[in-house]
Amino acid sequence: MRVAIASDHGGFGFKEPLARYIESLGYEVEDCGPDSFDRVDYPDYADIVARKVANQEADYGVLICGTGLGMAITADKVAGVRAATVTSHMFAKLARQHNNANVLCLSGRFVSLVDNMDFVRTFLGTAFEGGRHERRIKKIMREDDPNFTGVTSDR
Ligand code: RB5
Repeated sequence: MRVAIASDHGGFGFKEPLARYIESLGYEVEDCGPDSFDRVDYPDYADIVARKVANQEADYGVLICGTGLGMAITADKVAGVRAATVTSHMFAKLARQHNNANVLCLSGRFVSLVDNMDFVRTFLGTAFEGGRHERRIKKIMREDDPNFTGVTSDR
């Protein structure tokens, strides 16, 4: 399993420890930057990781910014990506079980490293449940289709 990871300056302090931790769990990790605490724009790094997941160059993405919000908003705009900002153990689990999320977005400023390690381990180690959630995932993904004109009476 390949995991692409990136951050902005708000998440940079956690990127390296999380990358090492993910490797220790047995995953292959690709660090997509940045390489210093210098201020950068989170959409640039969200884009790099999201496209790697969308192009199947990575199975999962992990993105860390100050809140985890800007990363998720950006990554989710890339077709094929389901990005989730996770701030609790249960959200990490449900993002996989119900939403089949493939990009995990974390907060470097409002969540501890230890909690983020738990979220990463939980997220990567939890399978999509399928079943009734399969239909909903298909409905999420129709938003990627430029020909989809929106929900009508046919739900
Ligand atoms: C950068 O200051 C901050 O806006 C960013 O890290 C993130 O929290 C955006 O959502």
